Amino acid sequence: MKVIILAGGGGTRLFPLSRQDYPKQFLQINGDCSLLGQTVTRFLRTLPPEDIIVVTNQSYFHHVQMELRRLGAGRAHIILEPSARNTAPAIALSACYCLDVIGCDADEVLFVAPSDHLVWAEAEYIEQVNVAVQMSRLGRIVTFGIEPDRPETGYGYIQAGAPWEQGFLVQQFIEKPDMDRAEAFLTEGGYYWNSGMYAFTIGCLMEEMSKHQPMLAELARLPFNDLLSRFNDAPALSIDHAVAEKSDRVAVIPFGIYWSDIGSWDAIFEALPKDNHGNVVQGDCLTLNCRESLLMSHDRLLVGLGLEDTLVVETQDVIVVARRGESQKIKDVVERLKTER
Ligand code: GDD
Ligand code: MG
Repeated sequence: MKVIILAGGGGTRLFPLSRQDYPKQFLQINGDCSLLGQTVTRFLRTLPPEDIIVVTNQSYFHHVQMELRRLGAGRAHIILEPSARNTAPAIALSACYCLDVIGCDADEVLFVAPSDHLVWAEAEYIEQVNVAVQMSRLGRIVTFGIEPDRPETGYGYIQAGAPWEQGFLVQQFIEKPDMDRAEAFLTEGGYYWNSGMYAFTIGCLMEEMSKHQPMLAELARLPFNDLLSRFNDAPALSIDHAVAEKSDRVAVIPFGIYWSDIGSWDAIFEALPKDNHGNVVQGDCLTLNCRESLLMSHDRLLVGLGLEDTLVVETQDVIVVARRGESQKIKDVVERLKTER
């Protein structure tokens, strides 16, 4: 088994902390280890670094290398994409690397994990990964589904079908629905959030890619260096859109461990431990009469007085102050900053 860690995303949903050249996977959100570092550490519990492959964009190479060395995992593989083409080409490139460079055969299982999620309970996590890996050997693409507790529109949804092994066959994938549909899924039941983690054999991936993305499958069969030089020809698609949504060989296992994509400041507020007044406080902060607020300081003393339901994130050049519940709109702020400044 090889673990493929996807670390090439460049989102700015956690602005001002995440920037295009320093995205979420490199942030230390809940302690002194980055989300990428935590992801690698989870797998180092049972795998040698040689079985871990981090696939990322050229521009993030130094961040990834530094993090791997810091964890004593310098022998993990780093694959560098010549450009960001989304997750389907990143996974195709990784499969090609496993076949052509490492010398894996088609029965090798790949476990694909995003690099920027919070997962508690590491031991249980590895147990669940092993179940997914075993199930994928039966010739299916296996993913984890998270029981939804709110109509979140930032996640893809999976409708479960007939029971299969320790999970279900997938009826359909619905990538990031609008609020009306998300509410309907919650009311109807039988839907899970797509965790973005996948287990499959290289053979199964190549067959499904040949069926649904023949051009990408053709590229993935090239020698690794040839694929690198033709990487920009790959269709810029996520693995969810490119393969998972179209394949009839996908199964889902309900994931019984706390998980969050922590894709917004509101999600971070929900995920992190609170003080007695329900506040999340990090860095050099002084709070008085504050409730249910998030205060994060990096360069200066941050004083909060009488704040309620407020998010405050201080960095050297930008301070964001927002009402809780508004943080999904930070991407509009980033867009405005790009055009107006
Ligand atoms: N190597 C590489 N190259 N990695 C990438 C690229 C790329 O071009 N683009 C994104 N990634 C990485 C990100 O760093 C992240 O770890 C992971 O792939 C998923 O990408 P996101 O951009 O964060 O996707 P998302 O959160 O919008 O949606 C996906 O994840 C959700 C769960 O977190 C989808 O799978 C949704 O259906 C799912 O609910
Ligand atoms: Mg994400």
